[in-house]
Amino acid sequence: MKKITKAVFPVAGMGSRFLPATKATAKEMLPVVDKPLIQYAVEEAVAAGITDMVFITGRNKRAIEDHFDKAYELEATLETQGKAELLRVVQSVVPKQVNCIYIRQSQPLGLGHAVLCAKPVVQDEPFAVILADDLIDGEPSIIKQMVDVFARYQCSVLGVQDVPREHTKQYGIVSSGNLEKDVERVHGIVEKPKPEVAPSTLAVVGRYILTPRIFHHLENIKPGAGGEIQLTDGIAALIHEEQLLAYRFNGTRYDCGSKLGYLQAQVAYGLKHEELRADFAAYLKSL
Ligand code: UTP
Repeated sequence: MKKITKAVFPVAGMGSRFLPATKATAKEMLPVVDKPLIQYAVEEAVAAGITDMVFITGRNKRAIEDHFDKAYELEATLETQGKAELLRVVQSVVPKQVNCIYIRQSQPLGLGHAVLCAKPVVQDEPFAVILADDLIDGEPSIIKQMVDVFARYQCSVLGVQDVPREHTKQYGIVSSGNLEKDVERVHGIVEKPKPEVAPSTLAVVGRYILTPRIFHHLENIKPGAGGEIQLTDGIAALIHEEQLLAYRFNGTRYDCGSKLGYLQAQVAYGLKHEELRADFAAYLKSL
């Protein structure tokens, strides 16, 4: 029985939809209320028992490394000022048992290429991929739900959800047959199909459990949609060799790669936030 101990976080994208906010910093450092997107993603992995966090970084991503590093000066200042609660918040960004590993993707050649950059660290193990800009609120954490599916079937698992047909051109779309409640066996996958040719409306969102065989395919595929090495194309090649499942996760997804989704996340998480809930709800009502 194989266990998932590593998660890959591709954070080397351009984040062009958020310019100019992302001109000098990473999209994944944008906060929802008081935490950056990447921290929600790491917490999701930790909740699934994952211990090795592999970040695929690019230019302007140093803030991510700093965020998960010890901040001696800040901690010393908070201690001197007697701000114990803030000190606890800063120190608990990464739990002690967690290792953070950084790999640089020198050019943004696509999500598939970013995942391939993790090969030297992941080697011959199944692993999780989490796209931090897909913020998914669920209990247990979405990756935990998917790790549990992996534990039963020992094969790759894609996180999926139904989307309106007019949105298929924004996603990888699967064709599949039902296996059990919320679990589908995938027969095919296509990247960003037009609504009239999409095989279904079941879209892959930013959560994956992959077997290491994916690296072989990512090394061999040619650039696909948008001239990028697409993870979807690597997964499509995997289907011919291994069982592939799609899992309809139980949770609410906010597409924080888009401005609207990001604003929706702020509202939802603001209304859940212990300190803010009442005042924020009253403010929204007043609008
Ligand atoms: P997106 O398609 O959202 O692209 O990438 P992007 O560059 O981040 O944002 P826009 O579209 O320009 O606004 C999906 C995920 O894949 C990562 C991104 O960081 C994001 O988490 N990615 C994408 C890489 O790490 N490397 C790449 O070459 C491309």
